[in-house]
Amino acid sequence: MTDVVVAGGGLIGLSVAWRSAQRGLSVTVVDDAPGTGASYAAAGMLAPVTEAGYGEEPLLRLCLASLQRYPGFVAELAQAGGVEVALRTVGTLVVGFDEDDVRALHALHAFQQELGLEVEPLTGREARRREPSLTPRVRGGLHVPGDHAVDPRVLHRALLAAAAAAGVRMIRSRIDAVRVEAGRATGLRLAGGADLSGDAVVLALGAWSASLPGMPRLPVRPVKGQILRLRGAAGLLAGTVRALVRGRQVYLVPYAGDGLVVGATVEERGFDAAVTAGGVHDLLHDAIDVVPGITELELVETLARWRPGSDDNAPLLGPSDLPGLVLATGHYRNGVLLTPVTGDLIAELLASGNVPALAKPFTVNRFRR
Ligand code: GLY
Repeated sequence: MTDVVVAGGGLIGLSVAWRSAQRGLSVTVVDDAPGTGASYAAAGMLAPVTEAGYGEEPLLRLCLASLQRYPGFVAELAQAGGVEVALRTVGTLVVGFDEDDVRALHALHAFQQELGLEVEPLTGREARRREPSLTPRVRGGLHVPGDHAVDPRVLHRALLAAAAAAGVRMIRSRIDAVRVEAGRATGLRLAGGADLSGDAVVLALGAWSASLPGMPRLPVRPVKGQILRLRGAAGLLAGTVRALVRGRQVYLVPYAGDGLVVGATVEERGFDAAVTAGGVHDLLHDAIDVVPGITELELVETLARWRPGSDDNAPLLGPSDLPGLVLATGHYRNGVLLTPVTGDLIAELLASGNVPALAKPFTVNRFRR
């Protein structure tokens, strides 16, 4: 018996586990392959501003709150587990490839201004001054100084180490079901039939969150993203470049000295794991249009994973319809960014029994209102 059983050892599950253990709770995490889900493919953009969508202001506020926690979060992680996670704080450049793309960026800029966000409009020439490897065809852009980046694979390692140091137990097993007794979640049934009991069960299974037997229906679905990793990009880009290329979005995120992530497709294809010729073609085509030097790089990895999409693109945080089952899922495009705030909020709920004010707009109840 443990205080908290966390289903899922990705960034979100581990953050909840670590923060809960720090509050004195006994915590067990179950995952058959921790760190191989969405975070394995993620580019690691911490980008509340450049991910902000029309009508998603509450999500933006949560994203900004999480970004604010990031420097303290990674410093504490390094101290707790010994793994340093570098925060890249050079900002993000968004560029438009043709006139229509730039018009769309201007509309986005007007929205960002309404929200009081810090964004500087740039001409094509000014954009190229910041990133000289951009094609001269780029027509204009925006500079967003506050949107940062982190390497999600390193972040996962850091969380594993910090959680272990805080006494979190990790069980590497497939999960077959949420156990329900007398109308309450009481633990997990593991592959092979073993039962694991806990006072509270946290569901942090990302895109798989709606697939376990024994659970209430949840508005979480897999949204496929294909992504590429390239090598040899040292000095090519100073920071993240996002581009609108004939209406299609692509992002270029430097990592680990000479690496570059190019992402990502957004596809409603369930758990389809195929890396497709079309997906790779579109990403490379758009990336090379924006930064022609990419053509020289070595393509070292192609992969597909699934974002946990929700009906309003915001996460599901807090109590569920099943007593004892707590939700920490549905983070869609912002899982890496929302890792610190999710850990804090869910740990507070588990320790105090109260839903923190910041989490209230994100309970599953909102879909009934
Ligand atoms: N946050 C970037 C993506 O979901 O592709």
